[in-house]
Amino acid sequence: MSKQTFARLPGFRDFLPDQLAFREHIFGAWRAVSARYGFQEYDGPPLEPLDLYVEKSGEEIVGQLYHFQDKGDRDVTLRPEMTPSLARILGAHHRSMAKPIRWFSVPQLFRYERQQRGRLREHYQWNVDVIGEEGIGADVEVVAVALDGLRELGLGHDDVLARVSDRRLLTAVLLAIGVEEEKLPGAFSIIDKVERAPADHSLSRLQAEAGLDEASAASTLDLLSQGGLDGVKGRFGDRDEVATELEHIDEYFDSLEALGLGAFVEFDLRIVRGLDYYTGIVFEIFDRERKFRAVSGGGRYDRLLELVGGDPVPAVGFGMGDVVLGELLRDRELAPAHAPQIDYFIVIIGEEHRALALTIAHSQRDRGAAVQYPLREQSVRKQFVAAGNAGARKVIVLGPDEVARGHAVVRDMASGEEREAPLDELR
Ligand code: HAM
Repeated sequence: MSKQTFARLPGFRDFLPDQLAFREHIFGAWRAVSARYGFQEYDGPPLEPLDLYVEKSGEEIVGQLYHFQDKGDRDVTLRPEMTPSLARILGAHHRSMAKPIRWFSVPQLFRYERQQRGRLREHYQWNVDVIGEEGIGADVEVVAVALDGLRELGLGHDDVLARVSDRRLLTAVLLAIGVEEEKLPGAFSIIDKVERAPADHSLSRLQAEAGLDEASAASTLDLLSQGGLDGVKGRFGDRDEVATELEHIDEYFDSLEALGLGAFVEFDLRIVRGLDYYTGIVFEIFDRERKFRAVSGGGRYDRLLELVGGDPVPAVGFGMGDVVLGELLRDRELAPAHAPQIDYFIVIIGEEHRALALTIAHSQRDRGAAVQYPLREQSVRKQFVAAGNAGARKVIVLGPDEVARGHAVVRDMASGEEREAPLDELR
């Protein structure tokens, strides 16, 4: 029989120890910052009912679902994002909980995407959400957490930028331009893609799908290409509906300034977000040079809990993926070097002392030290090589003369310094 070989599925990753250490470095920063802001960790199942996503997340994600029928004929799918699961979980539990609820999670998510840089078919995503608070303070809090997560990993405002918009403001602006209410979703989707599409393509779509005449379509594109708040204020600031939304946005930016994060955020009307459920402020965080795709995205989604069958509860949050973030950290040389480390490696010179080595190893492990010893008889030279490979800080040498005197030699591997230690202290 010929030998079968198995390749990893495209878009999935193995995590060898150095890669896992890097992942843990990222997760560690995420968890530390979540804790600093007083968020509690939760999780849910990786498999969910298919209907949880259909018509709630939006076409793009639904087209990428890993879905199938289970043996009980249920339509199920691997979770492509965490937010609908969070809404489902809280729909069942939020009534008994004090608001606002501050939760975070680091789920592995699955999307059958076309493979490209920064996009895989599985990724880990830090999700941080505030549920039950409609005030803008919650919007400020979540973007601050996201930015601090990046700062914790060594990224500064020269490296990353949160681009922020508001779907309510965009709605007010589009209505003022003359887009009809029922054409708003179409207009949103054109604007969501405006940066990646050629200008004439967006121009004709704004006419065909958003119902604008050529001049309005052109001036909309013009407004979007500048993207800034001044353009919106200058052209539409005197309209009540727009002015109300502008006040919100001003308060948002003032708060981030007060938190010391002002240099990390910029208003940009082109940020719409691909997911359907957002209702207010939305943001995406990119590297400043725009070499990579978005590191993070999020916003307010005040109607999702209701959509999945619960009470109307306001909510806001974000997701930050480990894939783009990992690329960005490596690019900035912020990925820590991986070096395994243990406290002691026990070198056994005579096999008659193996039992003694085992006793010392176990006793030291019980005290919390990381310890290794050769698993079979080996030359002293090989044992020192093994100690080096294991990253041993110290080597305990069980030499026959020293052991006969009730001692062992302890060598500090960095300085080469040696001292004798009584065996009774070691075991
Ligand atoms: P999202 O924009 O779809 O939002 O994903 C958030 C981040 O996850 C992206 O910016 C990206 O870094 C990463 N990501 C997404 N898909 C992939 C992929 N296929 N491969 C690698 N990384 C990926 C959401 O999922 C929302 N549910 C976030 C949220 C939480 N909104 C409110 N709360």
